[in-house]
Order: sequence, then structure tokens, then C-alpha cells
Amino acid sequence: MSIEIRGLTKHYGATRAADGIDLALDDSVKVFALIGPSGGGKSTLLRLLGGLEKPDAGTIRIDGAEVPQDEEALRLWRRKNGFLFQSFNLFPHLTALENIILPLVQVHGWKRDEAHGRAREIVARFGMDAHLEKHPAQLSGGQQQRIALARAMAHEPALLLLDEPTSALDPEMKAEVLDLIEELCQGGQRIILSTHEMGFARGSADAVVFIGAGRVVESGAATALFDQPQSAPVKAFLSKVMKW
Ligand SMILES: Nc1ncnc2c1ncn2[C@@H]1O[C@H](COP(=O)(O)OP(=O)(O)O)[C@@H](O)[C@H]1O
Ligand SMILES: [Mg+2]
Repeated sequence: MSIEIRGLTKHYGATRAADGIDLALDDSVKVFALIGPSGGGKSTLLRLLGGLEKPDAGTIRIDGAEVPQDEEALRLWRRKNGFLFQSFNLFPHLTALENIILPLVQVHGWKRDEAHGRAREIVARFGMDAHLEKHPAQLSGGQQQRIALARAMAHEPALLLLDEPTSALDPEMKAEVLDLIEELCQGGQRIILSTHEMGFARGSADAVVFIGAGRVVESGAATALFDQPQSAPVKAFLSKVMKW
């Protein structure tokens, strides 16, 4: 996907969550990772890319199309994308299957029986067949996140946005969710994710950007950025997080 960001700014009171971000990625990038310290502005940038929030200033173009500003167009933009957040955000009173069916019907306007068929199909593909009648509280964190990922993928989003999808999981579950995301990458799904999983970002992302204090500190091909970071903050960050 091509991404062109110019002068992107978003303030929350005195906090500059995005402070003049400029970035250009070409069409060869399918998987794009945002890394950097907590509070640096990764989630803010993901929300702006997905159209969940509006910038104070600046523009974003994805494949030449500008993320719109008016409410109606923005709603359509959001619908084209799939989202997954750090904490699972499943509806606790619905079964795994109903968690997937509900947005297909209510947000995407599918007929119920079509939504049901699609939900069963994607649950099977994600290896969650045995769990479709369970409620979130009966599922492990990893299983919940797989259902949340199935839900985000059910309408075949143009772009899948993942905000630290594994940071609430313990190591084994982390691995199973990362495997699933890796499968989606291999299948050609276009993904933008923020992550603290540096091994995953290095191995699976085509391009990586390091965001700190609402700004782009460094960006480039994943292997280059991890193997030969250029700037002092990125070197310091990587040596700290790769130490263990
Ligand atoms: N809705 C919000 N209201 C107020 N401050 C926010 C909001 N969202 C983010 N921030 C602030 O913006 C900065 C960037 O946050 P965030 O984008 O969540 O960073 P990251 O995802 O890299 O941890 C932080 O200082 C955070 O506290
Ligand atoms: Mg965040």
C-alpha cells in the first residue's frame, strides 16, 4: 500500500500525540509496523490512519485516497478497515460466534444467515471451531484475541489495523496469536500494527517506523532499521528492549 502522511498533528490538551508527522511508503509495503516507547504516539497514529479520530492538521493518503474529514465519509472509511486492540474488546454477554455476527449485521449490513455462514467459516479458519458457542469469560486470553482477530477480518477489510495485539497475553498465547497474524501477512493481507514484539516486526514487517514524542524518529525497511539503526534514540531503545 502506498501511504503518504503530511504534517499530521493531533493534540490532547497540552500533549502532542502527533506532532507534525511526515512519512511516505511505497506500494511494495504490505505490512507496516509502528514501534517506539509507550506514550510515543503509536496508538494515536493508528487511530488517525483508521479514521477513528480526526487530526488537528495534516493529511493522510492511503493508495492515493485521502482519509476523509466529514463524518459520513469517515464512517465509510472506518468500515473498510478492520481493527484489533490490545485488550480484547469482545462483548462479554455474547458467544464467540455472535461477537463476529453482530458487527457484520449491524455495521456492515449483511443478512443474518450470510453473516452466520461467514462467521462459522472464519472461526474454522482460525482454528476456533470448538469454542464458537463459548462466552469470552470461558476463553483464554489468546483464544479471545483470536476471536477478536476473526471479527476484525470477517468483512475482508482492505486494511487491518492492530494496536499491540499481543501485549496483554502471556508468552505461549502471544506466540499463537503472532502465528495467526503471520499467516494473514503471508496470505497478502495488508496490515499496519503497533507492537513491542521486535522479533515479529523484524521478521514480518516490510517497513518500520519508530515514533517518539509524536514524531517520526526513524523509518525504513525492517531489516535495516533493526540491524543498523541510525539515530541515538532508536539505538538506545533497541538495545534496551532486545537485551532480554
Ligand atoms: N484520548 C486521549 N486523551 C488524552 N491524552 C491522550 C489520549 N490518547 C493519547 N493521549 C496521550 O497522547 C500521547 C501518545 O499516546 P499514544 O498514542 O497512546 O502512545 P503509544 O500508543 O505509543 O503508547 C500520550 O502522552 C498519551 O497520554
Ligand atoms: Mg498504544
